[in-house]
Amino acid sequence: MAVGNEQYLWWQSGIIYQVYPRSFQDSDGDGIGDLNGIKQRLEYLQWLGVDAIWISPIYPSPMADFGYDISDYTGIHELFGTMADFDDLLQEVHARGMKMILDLVPNHTSNKHPWFLESRSSKDNPKRDWYIWEDAKPDGSEPNNWLAMFGGSGWEWDEKTEQYYYHAFLKEQPDLNWRNPDVQKAMFDVMRFWLDKGVDGFRVDVMWHMIKDEKLRDNPPNPDYKPEMATYEKLIPAYSTDQPEIHHIVQEMRKVVDAYKERVIIGEIYLPIHKLVTYYGKNGNGAHLPFNFMLLNLPWNAQKIGAHINEYEGALPEGGWPNWVLGNHDKSRIGTRIGIEEARVAAMLLLTLRGTPTMYYGDEIGMTDVTIPEDEIQDPQGLNMPGLNLSRDPARTPMQWNTSNNAGFTNGTPWLRVADNYTNLNVETEQQDKESALELYKQLIQLRKAEQALSIGEYIPVQTEGDLLAYRREHENTNLLIVLNLGDKDTMFTPEHATLKGQIILDTNLKRRTEQVNDKLEVRANEGVIVRLKG
Ligand code: GLC
Ligand code: MG
Repeated sequence: MAVGNEQYLWWQSGIIYQVYPRSFQDSDGDGIGDLNGIKQRLEYLQWLGVDAIWISPIYPSPMADFGYDISDYTGIHELFGTMADFDDLLQEVHARGMKMILDLVPNHTSNKHPWFLESRSSKDNPKRDWYIWEDAKPDGSEPNNWLAMFGGSGWEWDEKTEQYYYHAFLKEQPDLNWRNPDVQKAMFDVMRFWLDKGVDGFRVDVMWHMIKDEKLRDNPPNPDYKPEMATYEKLIPAYSTDQPEIHHIVQEMRKVVDAYKERVIIGEIYLPIHKLVTYYGKNGNGAHLPFNFMLLNLPWNAQKIGAHINEYEGALPEGGWPNWVLGNHDKSRIGTRIGIEEARVAAMLLLTLRGTPTMYYGDEIGMTDVTIPEDEIQDPQGLNMPGLNLSRDPARTPMQWNTSNNAGFTNGTPWLRVADNYTNLNVETEQQDKESALELYKQLIQLRKAEQALSIGEYIPVQTEGDLLAYRREHENTNLLIVLNLGDKDTMFTPEHATLKGQIILDTNLKRRTEQVNDKLEVRANEGVIVRLKG
């Protein structure tokens, strides 16, 4: 990194790429992606230019929630490989100058985890208090009205010990009691286990769920609930999530990673901006990057997105580093949410905003949601609440590598069907096509790496109207103007109070590079351009 910028760390100036390991690359023909598969594809990731990979859970798990139900925090699921495979992968990632971030799931374990088996064995078991056990109300009903994210009540009755336990997700995912110091210690030890191996950080699953109201008060009803929404949305989770005590826990996690060099904590947090930013902690002693999911939820509307970027920039605490996410394994893919052409503009947005970008595997080749026939649905969220279109399978289909069988993902039968469009839409084909989505991503990533204005420069909003979204990124003598047309009409961009002179250095259709810009700039429908301004 250039002299004078030593204060920027890899997780600030770099780009994170999420690998959903089941679907990335299968190496042994069982139809399920694995660690050796990821290893085979590191060359691709290096070619693409990403700096860090975050791998969704690879630990032993009954797979009730595809690995987010962990039965051993310091092991590797045999489907994914062995610990030796893991060590090998980590070493290879580092040898290529990349970083590895693991998924940490501290809010809940699997119901098959030995901790829970002990906890449920009797009321006086020493681990009883590791989970959230409560008596029934006098009429036998649940201790309060809390709902599970994946449908139904958040409470499950245990016949043997005659108490309910709480689960924010599936009943196979009992919530740990983070008020118990032994639970804290056990999970911090898990973190140290991986940090000692050299893992570069954690993406912490459902961070805002980890502590619940001590009195377990009822959640209030949600006045905006509609029947087409998940049942969980019936209530506002005022007492089951985002409790003030969470910040102390996050601080303690931070202390664990701060004992090592340059490790990162990313928090999965779905909250409005003013709440989200509290997860940076007081004086920056919380999460390094509370995931900013704004672009996952906002409509594709220039004025709304512009306003939110400004709100976010304004809400960041002193020293708080921003970050942006366009897709993940829980949400419909960007190409489906806003459209294929639009997704190219979104790529430019993601990779030119100030703050660490996180990409979701396959988005770079323009993968879209794959319709999964009802009898092939695997995701418990889809299965438990049928008819509401809540399955997350469509965004988790196998990565499309080439034109061979199963898109080169597996020699066996893929665990989830491969998109039909893979013969056109795949890495190899797009690497040959100078105007492909992949080529655009590659160029954007290269530009972000080459231009400090993009990776660490200032963000300066530019006033626009209608479907145009514009901003400048500035660093030392470099001044880049980004103009994105989120609409379907060609539009003239004419800045009000500034002269506009420069040269286009990248455009989303990869057609206008080197074009000179003099006072006005036409931005076509669903097009984005980056202009290097003169002077
Ligand atoms: C997070 C994960 C999601 C999982 C849930 C429960 O939201 O991203 O995939 O189902 O937590 O662990
Ligand atoms: Mg496999």
